[in-house]
Amino acid sequence: MLENSATSLKPMPAHSQLWPLFRQVLFKFDPELMHECAIKFLSLTSSFLAKDQVISPLARDPIFRRTLLGLNFPNPVGLAAGFDVDGACLPALQYLGFGFVEVGGITMLPQPGNLHRPRIIRLPRDEAMINQLNFDNGGAKKLKRNLAKWRNKGVLTIPIGINLGKSNFSELADLPTEYAATFQFISDVADYITINISCPNTPGLSCFQSAINLKPLLDAVCNVNEMAAKKVPILLKLGPDLTNEEALAVAQSAVEYGLSGLVVSNTSKKREGLKNPCSILEGGLSGRPLFERSTEMLRCLSAGYGHKLLLIGSGGIADESLAVAKYRAGARLLQIYTGLIYQGPKFPIKLLENLKEPFLDPSS
Ligand SMILES: Cc1cc2nc3c(=O)[nH]c(=O)nc-3n(C[C@H](O)[C@H](O)[C@H](O)COP(=O)(O)O)c2cc1C
Repeated sequence: MLENSATSLKPMPAHSQLWPLFRQVLFKFDPELMHECAIKFLSLTSSFLAKDQVISPLARDPIFRRTLLGLNFPNPVGLAAGFDVDGACLPALQYLGFGFVEVGGITMLPQPGNLHRPRIIRLPRDEAMINQLNFDNGGAKKLKRNLAKWRNKGVLTIPIGINLGKSNFSELADLPTEYAATFQFISDVADYITINISCPNTPGLSCFQSAINLKPLLDAVCNVNEMAAKKVPILLKLGPDLTNEEALAVAQSAVEYGLSGLVVSNTSKKREGLKNPCSILEGGLSGRPLFERSTEMLRCLSAGYGHKLLLIGSGGIADESLAVAKYRAGARLLQIYTGLIYQGPKFPIKLLENLKEPFLDPSS
């Protein structure tokens, strides 16, 4: 039985007294509808924000500053792909304390994603979600327009990554040409680009997580990057359902092609260990249950490739201790999505409060 009420959630820490009440109301409504309302509200708010306005000075504490991928990150807590797909509300997300945001997954043309609804389901007892969206987005032109708007206003001071997704209408065999074309169109406005080869909602996409299938894709994309006036750091996003050996093989390909890093990891097709027995087999599971596997994969990749590739830790950061554990497992940057839905808008700052100590410890 899926549970859609918030009544069984654990008590929230004192940092956000109002959020549990607010969440109880929000969780009575359809998750995708609530997401659309949140994006509208945040994009409206974005219009009123000044340059680098942030909710707390902690988001700009010098101890968190890092230069990675040749970019200046004011802090390591980022927003994962899929939240602000079209870059509609970046100043508001920056205001909440995010040190970087990954927009997308984006495709060249606008597309609806999967047509059935609901496409997002909450599993409150597990602090998890299942999404079956499949790259619904407004297209690369719209994203470019939004980014130009925020950049022309001069409000953004955080790096913005762009996540590339697959068209709902193209053949898998055409993915190298398709990604190369989107990359060519969008890379001049990206601080980094993540090539998504692990969305569990896109039939066949995950097969690109093998050296042999990845080769034509990386040939095509790296060739475009090589020819471009502005070269952009490229990362690959891996799924947590790979074995460690498979993940290491993809990492080896990434190194051979001179890529900059890996995002570890995307959502999972697996449903093990859920408190809510779940009969929904389609879609990607995100949130707390993802933590263990995605972090184990991260640790393994860090041991093998942490000195050659930047590792962004994504998956299951549901509280402060898990953010610290993800950092200690080898992630130089972190990304959250589902934790934000459950813990509320102060979550990035709460994470930073607890990351201060590990950041001051040179051995971690
Ligand atoms: C509703 C939803 C949409 C997502 N869309 C994308 C996407 O377009 N591209 C992508 O690479 N990851 C996407 N993700 C995966 C997240 O970026 C993130 O890697 C994953 O949810 C694990 O982090 P979390 O446990 O903190 O949510 C999506 C996740 C959710 C919940």
